[in-house]
Amino acid sequence: MLRQTALRSFTAANRAGLPALSALGRGVSTWANVPQGPPDPILGVTEAYKADQDPRKINLGVGAYRDDAGKPYVLTSVRKAEEALLGKQLDKEYLGITGLPSFTSAAAALAYGGENALLKDQRIAVTQSISGTGALRIGGAFLGRFYETGAKRIYLPTPSWGNHTPIFRDSGLEVAQYRYFDKNTNGLDLSGMLEDIKAMPRNSIVLLHACAHNPTGVDPTKAQWDQISQAIKERDHFVFFDMAYQGFASGDPTRDAYALRSFVEQGHRIMLAQSFAKNMGMYGERIGAFSILAESKEERQRVESQLKIIIRPMYSNPPLNGARIVSEVLNNNALRQEWLGEVKTMADRIITMRTKLYDHLVDDFGSKHSWNHIKDQIGMFCFTGLKPDQVEALKRDHHVYLTKDGRISIAGVSSHNVKYLAQAIHEVTKQ
Ligand SMILES: Cc1ncc(COP(=O)(O)O)c(C=O)c1O
Repeated sequence: MLRQTALRSFTAANRAGLPALSALGRGVSTWANVPQGPPDPILGVTEAYKADQDPRKINLGVGAYRDDAGKPYVLTSVRKAEEALLGKQLDKEYLGITGLPSFTSAAAALAYGGENALLKDQRIAVTQSISGTGALRIGGAFLGRFYETGAKRIYLPTPSWGNHTPIFRDSGLEVAQYRYFDKNTNGLDLSGMLEDIKAMPRNSIVLLHACAHNPTGVDPTKAQWDQISQAIKERDHFVFFDMAYQGFASGDPTRDAYALRSFVEQGHRIMLAQSFAKNMGMYGERIGAFSILAESKEERQRVESQLKIIIRPMYSNPPLNGARIVSEVLNNNALRQEWLGEVKTMADRIITMRTKLYDHLVDDFGSKHSWNHIKDQIGMFCFTGLKPDQVEALKRDHHVYLTKDGRISIAGVSSHNVKYLAQAIHEVTKQ
């Protein structure tokens, strides 16, 4: 019996060209106790969508922009930058640890404003990163190693992007929450948020989504940002801005940088994670930036030296391609103007789809629910307020796929499917 089992596993492994462990006389695999991890909830939505054969199916789980034909969209400014780069026949030497200087300076100028005195005074330490995720990870590691004014604990909004908690836990920080989303209004729970900010121990670390909050699509207004800033100032908290959607929310990168720039102006201590995945459609190129505001040029130099020490054993130095493309787009005036137009086109399509979805629900299907939040929320995602059983019914009866929390990616909505989607939402919410 034993021999037979060994023979079977030997045969199976041998098909893959490997001897089975049991056949080598070792009873138990080294990894026998590794538990099966749960699948990623968002990738699961896409898999279920792919398996559905119905032509009406809609995938609202995607975190990437789609054009009105439902296709991935490569920006023309990016294509032109790629062509220009190809013509230059550049070499493939390693970048320095903190990346391509023409990219990092352009990324910082885009975030903080090109005229910002802090840039001129060289008080901002910037490094290229593996997109926004990598920037958050570097920031988490830096806080874990050097944040000494308060606890090594970061407060996240409830809810937040699903990857925040594991990123910061893996960086050695404790993770805690503050109130953010109000389920009753599908809007901001400003009083809960302010209360929580005031109740945190002094010098706490607070993560803020700079714009286009994921997953709720709920952003504070300028006046609300000012109140939040004041509450954070009163408690001397440290702010980690996550800006994964600059330009993608309103269509204007300057407008979307309001929170970051006003906090900087008001003298907050901050760090920033930037991503070019969404606003430049650079998803798989993995290009982003991480920056820290220092008190002086000398402090910035010390901070930068430690960023290098954190990054070097992680991935040595960052990849070239995305940095060259973004640098070309941001530093070439004609391409930059073209890009600004394209960001606006993407944001406008999202905003138009929100309005259409609302209009179909209310005007065509006479839904009696309040759907204002669909229009009030901003960015790629909308927190619909749909309950898990309604999400299930959308999938089962209407071939519409979204995450269980009721979040829909407006990028998956087009002029071709918006009416069908409104009807499906109405069907599952009407009683
Ligand atoms: C809030 C937020 N932060 C950061 C990221 C990081 O994305 P990436 O690593 O692709 O730049 C995302 C992506 O979905 C996000 O939504």
